Amino acid sequence: MPGRVAGKVAFITGAARGQGRSHAVRLAQEGADIVAVDICEDVPGIPYPGATEADLAETVKQVEALDRRIVAVKADVRDPRALKAALDDGVAQLGRLDIVCANAGIGTAPVAAWEMDESVWQTMIDINLTGVWHTAKVAIPHLIAGGNGGSIIITSSAAGLQAYQNIAHYVSAKHGVVGLMRTLALELAPHFIRVNSIHPTQVDTPMIQNEPTWRLFRPDLEHPTEADFAPASQAMNALPIPWVDPVDISNAVLYLASDESRYVTGVTLPVDAGAVIK
Ligand SMILES: NC(=O)c1ccc[n+]([C@@H]2O[C@H](COP(=O)([O-])OP(=O)(O)OC[C@H]3O[C@@H](n4cnc5c(N)ncnc54)[C@H](O)[C@@H]3O)[C@@H](O)[C@H]2O)c1
Repeated sequence: MPGRVAGKVAFITGAARGQGRSHAVRLAQEGADIVAVDICEDVPGIPYPGATEADLAETVKQVEALDRRIVAVKADVRDPRALKAALDDGVAQLGRLDIVCANAGIGTAPVAAWEMDESVWQTMIDINLTGVWHTAKVAIPHLIAGGNGGSIIITSSAAGLQAYQNIAHYVSAKHGVVGLMRTLALELAPHFIRVNSIHPTQVDTPMIQNEPTWRLFRPDLEHPTEADFAPASQAMNALPIPWVDPVDISNAVLYLASDESRYVTGVTLPVDAGAVIK
């Protein structure tokens, strides 16, 4: 049976682990080839370990195990030249581009907006907002040149639809990409290129499953565990679950990437266990 994105090529940022790896594998399961980029380094100021080149190699292994092709490059979404070089090479090797997942992103330790260091604010905006624009900017010429339409999927957050205290930089960046998404949806509609955003609640990835984050949610405990964190995380959601799995986001990505959503554009799609309506 042909896959739901058979014969297409997807460009995924932040593909070394977490949701990005899951998107690569899920799209490959449905027949896509992948261009994967990731910084594969710690980002200074981030309170949890960054992805590694070994993580990106594991994504390559998992995609190739599905008999799909993958071009994987270490690149920083803050560097549009590196991003362009990586994607140009990927498209040259794989022959086309159809799907773009602007997924790379960071979280930082919480602090009140007026007490936030300028460098913490700027790094967040550079990666989680400007990095998404860079991703779209280098990809769009390939999509237009291909003449086959396309789908750009931006990973925002529940924090792109509502406010959360002490992460003003994250909330601002994740709201900002919604404005970018809507503008691109209008600009690219004549080319049949669709642009949508996904808004996850907590997702079971290294971004949240680390001790600093657990401590943040459980300041009452000296050494909180994942099990201690779970009820506090669950309190954010309407459905009685603490977090969703990366594949839950990947399934939404797959829908938006496939022709099943051919007339869906400009949409903010929550995959949030009801967090935004709570
Ligand atoms: N985990 C959650 O609870 C959650 C919830 C809502 C939204 N999100 C968003 O989902 C996206 C994916 O996050 P995740 O949960 O998979 O976390 P993750 O930390 O596991 O993965 C993020 C990936 O992005 C990469 N990355 C970070 N900065 C980069 C840069 N400058 N250039 C290139 N790559 C870079 C990292 O190396 C990492 O591999 C992010 O945009 C995040 O903000 C996450």
